[in-house]
Order: sequence, then structure tokens, then C-alpha cells
Amino acid sequence: MDDQLKETMSLLDEISSLYAESIFNTIQMLSTIFNFMERYYEGSHSRFISEKSEKICKALGMNDTDIFEIKTAALLHDIGKVGMKESILYRRSNELNESELKQYCLHPELGNLILRKHKGFSTIAEIVYQHHEKLDGTGFPRHLKKAEIHPGASIIHVVDYFHDAMYKKNRDQRIAIKPSAQITGSFADSFLNREVYASTMNFLHQKKGILFERRVVELFTEILELERKNVGGKAIMRVPVNMLEPGMTFAKDYYTTYGLLIASNGEAVTEDMKSSLIRFAETEQIPMKVLVIK
Ligand SMILES: [Fe+2]
Ligand SMILES: [Fe+2]
Repeated sequence: MDDQLKETMSLLDEISSLYAESIFNTIQMLSTIFNFMERYYEGSHSRFISEKSEKICKALGMNDTDIFEIKTAALLHDIGKVGMKESILYRRSNELNESELKQYCLHPELGNLILRKHKGFSTIAEIVYQHHEKLDGTGFPRHLKKAEIHPGASIIHVVDYFHDAMYKKNRDQRIAIKPSAQITGSFADSFLNREVYASTMNFLHQKKGILFERRVVELFTEILELERKNVGGKAIMRVPVNMLEPGMTFAKDYYTTYGLLIASNGEAVTEDMKSSLIRFAETEQIPMKVLVIK
């Protein structure tokens, strides 16, 4: 290889790593903004969808690029809801009037428009555009069918349905018992609530091959069952932030005093997050001891 070619190759390497970094930073920035509007789910919705979608992708044997695009699309799938009224976000789609429903159904398209502004996001934008499409063509906004739907969108659709149904069914049960409980509700509680879990899983299995991709429903069920068994064998404990270790999982959502989610229920502890959690604890943004599953 002559010197000029070598120089060009190293310049290209540098540009591509800067480009990769720019994509990564953009994702971080968008998901931070997005976390602010997920209060009605206690902030855990997108992270949950992203984490489980990644596991399904891996179980399907996808390559690293596809996995990265799908888990990022999952993290940002509802970004088109930015600016939407809370009264719309909070209710089920069958509780909305005609004009509210029209507004709600625009969110995949708006998400696509936002994400397409970045050239590196075209596939991610397309997956986000399709995340409410159903196998039989009854989804929205383009009524795509089976093979027309991106595999990533089929994965996100299943996990999204599950999380949304679990959260809202659990919330409905709480309202029935205590009407003032409207804005609260915990996904962790619903995950442990057998009745809510069984009815949500039943629906997914009844509709697999009709609305939901069969293989995705089956793999997702295996992943959840394994997690439920694992949680059963582990202990929930309060651990000082400086003693956190990879392998532990947060058992609660942690917000700063100004409402930014910094660790969500079910999220794995990583070495990277330790130093910022210690700083947040020292400035009393979060407690010195946090609840984890070990
Ligand atoms: Fe959505
Ligand atoms: Fe969603």
C-alpha cells in the first residue's frame, strides 16, 4: 500500500469513528429528552422495549448492525409523541375521541420525520414509522402486511403491546380500588401480578400469526419466563451506590430532583454509570443506598 493510500485509509477510519460517535451522542441526547415525557409510564417504557427487543434480536441470530438499529429504534419508537397532550398519552386508544385518535395515530409518522433529519438514522426512522403495523394490515399508519413490515418493527410491536397493556391494566385495577391513583402505577407490580400478566400473554398468544409475528411472541415469552424465574431465585436488597456491581439490576426507578430518570427499574447496573450515580447521591439527587436485585 503506498503512503497516500495509507493516509487516505486512516483519514477514512477517523471520519467513520467520528461519525459513529456523532450517531451515538445523538441517540443519547434524544433519549434523554424523551425520558422527560415518559412520566406517565414512570419512565421505564422505552428502556424496557429496547432491552427486550435486543434480547429477541440476539435470540433470532441477527447481526450487530441490525441489533444496534433495532434497539435504537425501540428506544426512540414513540419520539413522535413529543408535544402531544398528556390526556392523550395517558389513555388507551379506545378511550380517545375521533380527533384525539387522529392525533395519536400521527406519532409513528412524526417520529419518522424527526429521525430522518439525521442521515445515519434512515433505517431507524423506517422501523419507528412501522412500529404500530400489524401482520394482517389492520395497523397504522400505512396498513402494511406481513413481509412488508421490517422485522425490527414486528419485534418492537410485540414488546410495546406487552408493556403498554401490563401498565395500563395494572393502573385500571388500582383506579378501581382507589380512584386517586390515576397517575401512579408500577410496571414492576403488574409484572408480579399473575392475573394481569396471564391475560396480557394470553392475548399475545391468541393473536400470534394474526397480529403479531409468531416467532417473536414465542421468543419473548421464553425471555420473560426466564427472567421471572431468575427474579424468584434472587434477593432484592438496598446497596450503597459505591458498592454497585455489574450483574445487579435496579429494582426501582431513580429520578433526579428535577425529574430526569437516571436509572430505571429492571435496568442492568454497568461500571460506566457508577461514577455519575455516586455524584448524584453526593448531591442528594438520589438516595445513598438504592434498591437492586442481586
Ligand atoms: Fe407508539
Ligand atoms: Fe410505545
